[in-house]
Amino acid sequence: MRAAFKHGAYLVVLLVLVSCETGYNPLDDYEQLDPATIFATPEPQLSSTYSTEQLARGRYLIGLLGCGSCHTDGALVGVPNSSRLLAGSSTGIAYTSPFIDKNPGVVYPPNLTPDMETGLGSWTMDRLVEMVRVGTVDHSARTLPVMPWPAFASITNEDAFSIAAYLKSLAPVRHRVPSNVPRGRKASAPFVHFGVYQTIER
Ligand code: HEC
Repeated sequence: MRAAFKHGAYLVVLLVLVSCETGYNPLDDYEQLDPATIFATPEPQLSSTYSTEQLARGRYLIGLLGCGSCHTDGALVGVPNSSRLLAGSSTGIAYTSPFIDKNPGVVYPPNLTPDMETGLGSWTMDRLVEMVRVGTVDHSARTLPVMPWPAFASITNEDAFSIAAYLKSLAPVRHRVPSNVPRGRKASAPFVHFGVYQTIER
């Protein structure tokens, strides 16, 4: 605890130095909120297409891989919303550093429930399986590396299929997440940033 406090003190000193040099203090533009995590997974609906074993396996994997820790409102920050499990996050993730860019690029983890308008309702099983395995949509550009698809690349076809079957069997939840924000444009919804920083010895 004491060590963490010490680092905090160094960080403040560093920010003051940076702000003197550039005239830009990121803390003038940001307010810090409390982080939280979530491990709960919603119950799937009974399905005539997928077996109970497949759905249980998909649910187990989604819980284990922590998909809900990004794709649920309140999971990244605040209190997870248990009525919107896996239905997307209104808190985004910055993929460039807010310490460098005044307005970093931000992605909002989409709604994974099968709602037709705001979720994955219109996605085919093939598209979902491919998304989980290699992070591509319609064989085009890879989604941003914020979604940890490289770590899922060695998943078996069977497991990727179970994840997709489970998502397809969830009760649809209507919830539209904010649109992604390109670098340089001001985000109107909050976001978190994962960065690794080292204090500079002077
Ligand atoms: C570290 C946070 C994070 C985790 C963990 C995560 N995702 Fe994502 N996911 C994202 C973000 C952010 C996007 C949107 C990327 C973009 O817009 O380019 C995304 C996109 C997706 C999409 C595309 C949806 C769409 O509408 O385009 C699917 C499907 C998806 N994730 C499924 C999963 C599954 C399944 C897991 C767990 C195995 C998972 N994600 C884990 C952050 C995450």
